[in-house]
Amino acid sequence: MIITIGSTKGGVGKSSLTVNLAAELVRQGRRCIIVDADPTVTSQTWGRDRAEHSPELPHITVTEARGKIRAKLLDLEEAYGTVLVDVGGHDSQEFRQAGVTSDLLIVPVTTSQLDLDSLPKIEKLLEDFTTFNPELSVRGVFNRIETNPQSDGRLKEARAYVTSDFPQIPFYDAVLHDRKAYQDVMRVGRSVIEWTDYKAKAELQVLAKEINND
Ligand SMILES: Nc1ncnc2c1ncn2[C@@H]1O[C@H](COP(=O)(O)OP(=O)(O)O)[C@@H](O)[C@H]1O
Ligand SMILES: [Mg+2]
Repeated sequence: MIITIGSTKGGVGKSSLTVNLAAELVRQGRRCIIVDADPTVTSQTWGRDRAEHSPELPHITVTEARGKIRAKLLDLEEAYGTVLVDVGGHDSQEFRQAGVTSDLLIVPVTTSQLDLDSLPKIEKLLEDFTTFNPELSVRGVFNRIETNPQSDGRLKEARAYVTSDFPQIPFYDAVLHDRKAYQDVMRVGRSVIEWTDYKAKAELQVLAKEINND
């Protein structure tokens, strides 16, 4: 299975979701590799930090890929079973090749209007992806939801908006909140499932369950 975590927007949590999800899938016993297809190499840096700072944890291979990555993704799927692809936050050759090769595309967004405004562009890309890859499933996920109770209303509003205006991008029920843990774990190559914030761990695992059901 090839899962791309993609968006035309940067800073929405693609790399964060990629590495956190990879660790959870590995914990579940799945063989899994991360393909870092973004020149900013956030996932790859995480992989290096994991080997250096957290060598006791299960090893997760992170490999770089650029340009025409389709053949590589298919080869890695053969070898590993599950491939998670972290693409850069813009319309790129890597994103397009991943889009026509993946089984599932997960699009993280925050509830900020700027992020939501990226959805029409993504919808347009999806038309191209699904022309060549009609089996592609696409799902959105809300990330960095504020933990204060007032944010509930904003989330409900955003959910209603995406449901009515972007029916091609059904969103997961599970959401990830804005938590320091997601930032802290990056520096040491860990996942929130391997950290001390149990709320972060629980919500990531709830999301992973929903993803597994796709
Ligand atoms: N749920 C979250 N809570 C707090 N910080 C987050 C969360 N998700 C991502 N971040 C932080 O936001 C920044 C951008 O995330 P990143 O995964 O690098 O985005 P992208 O790959 O889409 O550019 C990083 O500093 C990351 O640690
Ligand atoms: Mg990134």
